[in-house]
Parts: sequence; structure tokens; C-alpha cells
Amino acid sequence: MKVLVIGSGGREHVLAWKLKQSPQVTQVFCAPGNAGTHEDVTNVDIPATDSERLAQFARAEGVDLTVVGPEAPLVAGVVDVFKAQGLKVFGPSKAAAQLEGSKAFAKDIMRQANVPTAEYRAFRTMEDAIQFINEREEVPLVVKADGLAAGKGVSVCETRAEAIAAVKSMMQDRAFGTAGDRIVIEEKLVGQEVSILALVDGRTIITLEAAQDHKAAYDGDTGPNTGGMGAYSPAPFATPELMDTVITQILIPTVHTLKRNNAEFRGVLYAGLMLTSQGPKVLEFNVRLGDPEAQPILMRLKTDLFPVLSAAAEGKLKELPDLEWDERTAVCVVMASEGYPGPLSTGHPIRGLADAAELPDTKVFHAGTALQGGAVVNTGGRVLGVTALGDDVSDAKRKAYEAVKCIRWQGAWCRKDISDKARQS
Ligand code: AMP
Ligand code: GLY
Repeated sequence: MKVLVIGSGGREHVLAWKLKQSPQVTQVFCAPGNAGTHEDVTNVDIPATDSERLAQFARAEGVDLTVVGPEAPLVAGVVDVFKAQGLKVFGPSKAAAQLEGSKAFAKDIMRQANVPTAEYRAFRTMEDAIQFINEREEVPLVVKADGLAAGKGVSVCETRAEAIAAVKSMMQDRAFGTAGDRIVIEEKLVGQEVSILALVDGRTIITLEAAQDHKAAYDGDTGPNTGGMGAYSPAPFATPELMDTVITQILIPTVHTLKRNNAEFRGVLYAGLMLTSQGPKVLEFNVRLGDPEAQPILMRLKTDLFPVLSAAAEGKLKELPDLEWDERTAVCVVMASEGYPGPLSTGHPIRGLADAAELPDTKVFHAGTALQGGAVVNTGGRVLGVTALGDDVSDAKRKAYEAVKCIRWQGAWCRKDISDKARQS
């Protein structure tokens, strides 16, 4: 079987790496991929958003299954393009991907489905939004751009002045382009954040092992929001009781409500939760695997991933045996470029990758890397996801940071406290 993975981040590297281990799979392509996928599978020089050329490639190569990693092509409708040409593809349709593509749409679905989430209002004009902020008694408030903004379109604002500045940056200065045509303002929730991901084939829902991301840039959860600076799995906060609550109160009603809205969901449904004193509430839905959550989760998956994703794409998840998981803990530490999540310093050669590759139970997944004149250089904000399996959280953390120590480039940095949240459980 031939598989095509669409995307170029750490999530796509772990997907390609895991799919290649399947005895059923003869070749894995990654479009466009990065320096890490180049080493493990075959890169294809087509941008992740060029649906027509990707479908053309899949047809010409006889690709049996395409797996879409990132949100942008999903929201743009790549799955619809593939399906129209009779190609098997894992991921939600354009209509269902709106769950991530529009925060106002997601909030509306949650309201219809009675899913617990932060109280909110959606706005189309700056004047209305500012009036609401001035009249509202309670701060803090969270201001969100409606559309996609690579995890950066959310401002948690402690004061009215901060909230108004965030609205102006989105709606007047257009910091996130058309993603800020509409905004959502909601109450701030407090608690631990946990990511619960589930495979969905329209009917059947199979949860994956839970992970915890670290969204803030710096140690101790300080600094600006990022796409995620590291993750570990399993997450001790995700008790069996919590998983039951999430399935019955969040995942099932959401999948049913999407179907009623003519947006049947197939793919990975990702619920970003805040565990509040009143129970879990949804911060956001994503319509794909999390990045970096996919790295520790898939490193722990023992089951062959190819038949699983294939069954999900065909609506046959019900026929699968239970997924098998490595009982050990996986920790993924993201190494980032100088400047991230702001303007970046890129193009620096990365050294020490071969030394890190020697370490047991460790895999360095690439994200923002490329090959330049034979050298691996940093090209993006999040550059590497250094992931290790250990007997417990401290062992996995120790191994991951040991690998981090082998690797260097000009300006490289990472959080030093990835997985420490597990100790607060
Ligand atoms: P989102 O893209 O909506 O998940 O937001 C990104 C991050 O912003 C989340 O992972 C949280 O850390 C934070 N955030 C979003 N909404 C809220 C909220 N209502 N209260 C507190 N923090 C939030
Ligand atoms: N790590 C958060 C996300 O993938 O959206």
C-alpha cells in the first residue's frame, strides 16, 4: 500500500514515521515534508494547500490512502477534492472542518449540542465589540480571532484596556488578516488544560490516550501563546471518569450535532479542554491531530496505524479491535528558533542530530527544518520535537532533555519544564 501524508510539521513527521512501520505499507510520501521526513520517507515537492496537484499526484502514483495533517488544507476543502476523484482520504470534509476554521461556528455547534464551554459573544464590528467590553462588569476576558491563526489568534486579557487593544489589533490592524473579520469574546476559564483526541468515522468514536500540551512560550506557563512548546502522554488528569464525561457530554453530542448540520465528521476530533471546578469545558475544537500532542501519543501507540486510519476513512472503525498502547510515558520537548512566536532567526545549521539519534527510546521529529547544501537548517518557529519514552514521567523527561542537550544551532531554545504539570495531579 502507498500512503501520502500532507503537511510539513512535527505531526506529519510522526505520522509518516509511524505509517512506514506498517507491514502493509510499501511506500510513504510526504508533501511537502521537511528534512526529517526526507530522511525517513519520500518527500514530494507540492505545497500542502495545493489540493488539485496533490490529488493529481495521488492518482498518478496509485496512492491508497492520503492522511491530511494540518488544518489549513482541511478548512480549504482538500478532502472534498480527493473524494470527488474517488481517492481514499483521512480527514474531515470542508463543512465539518469549520469546527476549527470558525470559532463562531464551533461555539454555535456547542450551544446546539449543549456542550460545556466558556460563555461568549461573537462580533462582526469593532464598535460592538468595544461597547461590549466597556459594559461588561467582569474581566478578565479572552479575545479570539474567528478564523485560523496558527494558534496565535487568542489573547487572554486581564484588563478592559488589554481586551480593547486585542480587538483593535485583530479588527483594525488586521493582525491575522481575514481571520479577524469576526471575533469571539469569552469569559476566562481557569484550571488544567488537557487535550482529548478521538478517531471518528461519522458514527463510531474511539478516544486516543490523553496528552497535555504547553501552550505558553516560557517556563511556568508565562509569555505569549504558541502552537505548543511540548507535550506528554498519558496525562494524569485524564482519569477514566473524566474520559467518560468527555465522551458522553462533549464528543458524542458534538458528532451528532455536526451530522444534523449536514457536516458529518470523519477524522480526528480534538477537544482542547479546561478542567474547571465545574467540570471540563471546551476551549477549542481542532479537526486534526494536535502538534506536538501527536508526537508523544503516536510514539505510545503499539497498534499498526495504517489499518486504523484506513478504517476511519471508510466508516469502518467499529470493526477494529481495541487500540494497544505502550504503558510508558512519552515526553516531547519542542526546540524553537530565536524569536518564536515573533519574527524568527532562521537558516542556521543544526548540529548534533546524529548524536541524538543514537539515544535509546528517543526520536527527534522535525518540524521547521529543510536541507540546504547538504546541511539541515532551521526554517520555522518550532524546529524539532525531541521525544522520548521512559518508565515514568521523570524518566521520559530526563531522556528527552538528554537528547535536547546533544542538539544545537544559533539561537535554539526550549522550555525546561515540559511535563512538570504531571506532578500537580
Ligand atoms: P484556543 O485556540 O481557543 O484553544 O486558545 C488557545 C489557548 O488560549 C488555549 O489553549 C488556552 O491556553 C487559552 N484560552 C483560550 N480560551 C480560553 C479561555 N476561555 N479561558 C482561558 N484561557 C483560554
Ligand atoms: N498543540 C495545539 C494544537 O495542535 O492545536
